[in-house]
Amino acid sequence: MSGITISMADYIKNHPKLKFVFFGGKGGVGKTIMAGASALWFARQGKKTLLASTNPVHSLSNLLNQDVFGKPAIICDEKLCWGFEIDTKESIERSKQEIREKIAWFLKFADITIKAEEFVESATMNPAFEESAMFENMLDLMFKDEYEIYVFDTAPTANARRLLGMSKVYALWVDKMLKSREEAKVLRKALSYTKKEEKDPLMDYLLGFKDRMGHAKVLLTDPALTSFFFVTLPEALPIAVITRFIQWFHDFGIPVGGVIVNGLIQKETVKADAPEFVRNRVKMQDEHMEEIWQKFGDGVRSIIPLFETEVQGPAMLRKLADKLFV
Ligand SMILES: Nc1ncnc2c1ncn2[C@@H]1O[C@H](COP(=O)(O)OP(=O)(O)OP(=O)(O)O)[C@@H](O)[C@H]1O
Ligand SMILES: [Mg+2]
Repeated sequence: MSGITISMADYIKNHPKLKFVFFGGKGGVGKTIMAGASALWFARQGKKTLLASTNPVHSLSNLLNQDVFGKPAIICDEKLCWGFEIDTKESIERSKQEIREKIAWFLKFADITIKAEEFVESATMNPAFEESAMFENMLDLMFKDEYEIYVFDTAPTANARRLLGMSKVYALWVDKMLKSREEAKVLRKALSYTKKEEKDPLMDYLLGFKDRMGHAKVLLTDPALTSFFFVTLPEALPIAVITRFIQWFHDFGIPVGGVIVNGLIQKETVKADAPEFVRNRVKMQDEHMEEIWQKFGDGVRSIIPLFETEVQGPAMLRKLADKLFV
């Protein structure tokens, strides 16, 4: 593979503590297959590995020809490799219940006689709530620390960045909440006759939440532990998307592992008498490869050919892993 300075395998060798691996990029560029192939590869290196999907719409079971929904299962007969599609619906229900309890407590605390349910609906009926539940699921896995390597099949487009951006917003929001809760508490104490310390579950919850977010930030911004790899095709739009992503991630201080180019047509298989659209496509890819070298240069980690068939099932995944980590 000409032009690559630090390959995927070199990068991993240079990052022996690497633990959290993510694949980002435009929809349909090959994030899920790269995640699957990497997980198998890490497991083959002797690392206990979890391939996890936090998306509400999962694709791992389909990729692996095996049901991994709801609880982790060994995949592809690989001793150290587990796959896991998190049941987002279930965890959303759980978060709703938690929030319901907190709100009910708060309304009682503040002597407000409105039903909690109305607040619960408005707090949980927005799309950010689902994303937030997915993010929480991911953190749960990370904090439990039962595997040596976690490969996450993340949601496409801007979600990944938004999730991470959210941790900053959360911290600000929680600080504000804590401050006003503290003030309310002082006031209540001053007004009450008994002056005894009361339990404050909302405050406890916010403090715990802030801790979690702080911890997440430490893990996700540590270049020894975390890497986001960006997948692109040699085409204009996917290149534009990851260019933007990489800039965002730099701005957020989230470690970028490099760029994987997927779907390159192998020129030697294209004869001079190949159909015109094929020859045109090769020419187009050539031009975009130039752009890729210009933009990402020694950030390119791997170039994956366009295979004759889709990448599905353990055998194809292994074949891909061999190409990804040459
Ligand atoms: N190099 C390749 N050769 C042949 N088929 C490929 C190649 N790369 C990806 N595919 C196929 O393209 C499709 C999309 O791949 P994949 O599901 O990994 O993309 P994705 O980025 O995860 O998509 P989404 O954004 O929908 O999650 C799959 O059917 C996969 O098998
Ligand atoms: Mg996918």
